Amino acid sequence: MEITSATATAPGALPVLGHALSLLRDPFGFLARLPDYGDLVLIRVGPSAAVVVCDPELTRQVLLDDRTFDKGGPLFDRYREALGDEIVTCPYSDHRRQRRLLQPVFHPARLTGYARVMTRQIGEVTGSWRDGGVIDVLAEMQAITARTAVVTLFSDAIADTAVARTLRDFAAIQKGIYRRMLVPSPLNKLFIREAVRYRRARARVQRTAGAVIDEYRSNGTDRGDVLSVLVASRDQEGRQLSDSEVNSQVMSFFLASAETTASLLAWALLLLARHPGIEEQLHAEVDTVVNGTVTVDDLPRLPLTGRIVTETLRLYPPGWLLTRVATSDTRLGGHAIPAGTNLVYSPYLIHHRSDVFPDPWHFDPGRWDSERARPPRSALIPFGSGPRKCMGDTFAITEAALALAAIASRWRLEHIPGPRVRPARDIVLNPRGLRMRITSRRTGQPGREDGASRVGTRSS
Ligand code: HEM
Repeated sequence: MEITSATATAPGALPVLGHALSLLRDPFGFLARLPDYGDLVLIRVGPSAAVVVCDPELTRQVLLDDRTFDKGGPLFDRYREALGDEIVTCPYSDHRRQRRLLQPVFHPARLTGYARVMTRQIGEVTGSWRDGGVIDVLAEMQAITARTAVVTLFSDAIADTAVARTLRDFAAIQKGIYRRMLVPSPLNKLFIREAVRYRRARARVQRTAGAVIDEYRSNGTDRGDVLSVLVASRDQEGRQLSDSEVNSQVMSFFLASAETTASLLAWALLLLARHPGIEEQLHAEVDTVVNGTVTVDDLPRLPLTGRIVTETLRLYPPGWLLTRVATSDTRLGGHAIPAGTNLVYSPYLIHHRSDVFPDPWHFDPGRWDSERARPPRSALIPFGSGPRKCMGDTFAITEAALALAAIASRWRLEHIPGPRVRPARDIVLNPRGLRMRITSRRTGQPGREDGASRVGTRSS
């Protein structure tokens, strides 16, 4: 089978480079224009080709059929090389087993405990803000989500000083993995210092996790943290995850959770600053509901907060470009797809289709209002869909809503004029360089609580 005869090719391909320049210059504009050319559009980057799935229904079909459209493609392959056997990149053949083993980590009964950790970390990070100060928004949000990830992973099994070290190590690991994913292999040799930092950080995290795994295996207590569950979990044949598998899942949990949720929060804060009317409504909502610290019990009474999170995920889905590989000759939307074809799906592309989301570039949390005709939920895919759908969606939405409500109840954030904030061309869709001024909404209240101190560092 031949793909080129069955699908449209995106315009603007250059000899040898293909669409590499368009993708480098303006990947988001390039993607959003692709549906003009067809439901499946072929793009080329150097010698590699991929079919971009531009239609919501075909995207759904790809995501539902995880046997035919398996995890794969250069990005996932490099991630897998770096992390080893873990849930996000494992092939279909091992996925059911891994998903079953991880299911207890995401059991709804555990969420209350995780939410307590989130509330504490949000309080610690925002408690150090000063009235009138300027913050690097992404770094602050990463501080919240990275600390939440480490403490939900290990609870108090590692000391505060080890939390700080582990946060720095995870940051180095993340940087190293992203570099491997984005830079062609031969060029990776140029980043020797970073590679050494990466290896040392990995070894340290493995040692830390290894010591805790040994302790948990020997005394068998459930501390309510993720590691307790991973160590105790068994598949249908009664087999447990090996120590190295637990280690890979620990790494994966951190990478899947911290930066994505931080990106969501940073975009939400920028959007609110750009839409003062909506910000005002949010302040009114939290002022009515929140009394002191925001807890998970408050969330059902904060519908606008929830809609702001949903609409931010639509406009700026942190996982904006994902890949699959066809494992056998197949057909999609009437087109022939030969085995080995790389496919790309993009929540960003689908979320900006004007036939699905009218006025798609406009930030309108009201489109998720239950009293309005809502857009089809099936076209909202920030967490993917089907058997490989994100396992941490509720975790992420809870953390984002708690943080947003907590921040809105105390602070107003104002964007400092400067270069236009655009999404960075990273693995995660980040508003790089976003700085905002924070002003206390409670007059006479000091921004910094006495004695509030922070363990740890930014995650990047
Ligand atoms: C806003 C935050 C998040 C976004 C946008 C997001 C997005 C995604 C997406 C799009 C996928 C599917 C990838 C694919 O189809 O190839 C995924 C998978 C996954 N995510 Fe998330 N995620 C977020 C937060 C989290 C958190 C907080 C956790 C853990 C606590 C998590 C754990 C996972 C896991 C384990 C998978 C793999 C599921 C599987 O393959 O069975 N994610 N995520």
